[in-house]
Amino acid sequence: MSRVLDVNGVTGGYGSVQILNGVDLYVDEGELVTVIGPNGCGKSTFMKVLFGIADRYEGTFIHRGVDVSSWRTDKLVKRGIAYVPQVDNVFPSLTVYENLQMGGLNMSSGVLKKRIDQACEMFPEMQLRMSDLAASLSGGERQMLAISRALISDPTFLLLDEPTAALSPKYQQDIIGRINELRKQGITVLIIEQNAKLSLARSDRGYIFVGGKVAHAAPATDLLNDPDIGAYFLGTR
Ligand SMILES: Nc1ncnc2c1ncn2[C@@H]1O[C@H](COP(=O)(O)OP(=O)(O)OP(=O)(O)O)[C@@H](O)[C@H]1O
Ligand SMILES: [Mg+2]
Repeated sequence: MSRVLDVNGVTGGYGSVQILNGVDLYVDEGELVTVIGPNGCGKSTFMKVLFGIADRYEGTFIHRGVDVSSWRTDKLVKRGIAYVPQVDNVFPSLTVYENLQMGGLNMSSGVLKKRIDQACEMFPEMQLRMSDLAASLSGGERQMLAISRALISDPTFLLLDEPTAALSPKYQQDIIGRINELRKQGITVLIIEQNAKLSLARSDRGYIFVGGKVAHAAPATDLLNDPDIGAYFLGTR
């Protein structure tokens, strides 16, 4: 199996405020991998460091054998890596269509149309809302729009930061199910989730972050069945 992402000893944070204390993890081709952990332990910071939004001090990000540690966001996107942040992941004052267009800047109109059509196959809800402002969407629809926009660049590796946060249980199931569909279509997925049980149930493997580093890594089924982990992280027992 080929390695999509290898993270080696990454430390980082915001200026002089260190948050990540040496993150090691990997994602293989075709996997769905979930990162869980308590609030404030650095999960979002980890993805932000990869995307150059927070600072990396040491360590490397290797994507498909290439060191992309210092790459700019646009170059990472061109390479097939897409990222949906935890907050502010749509432009509320733009329409759904305009938001999707933002995912394909510099794309020819023909390619853009094809990509939007493809995204709408996964999220048909967007088709019906094209000329509505993103501000008018429900929480679940906004997440669908954010993921749809990330799909416009035709990624092979998708990073999602809490796509089901603050959604109703029905929407949570729905979104995770569709993320799993994307994986079945060949997109490798790394997902940060508070709804750990839901996400781990679809995942190959999981990582538990504590204090800015990986405290535990295991196959998803092991994490789901471990009573200690259940007690701390999965809201069971
Ligand atoms: N822009 C910033 N500048 C300084 N510190 C920040 C910044 N953003 C986040 N932090 C701090 O970094 C730490 C880790 O935050 P982060 O958002 O990575 O946690 P998280 O694991 O994603 O938490 P949550 O589960 O709440 O999303 C927190 O102490 C947070 O206050
Ligand atoms: Mg977060």
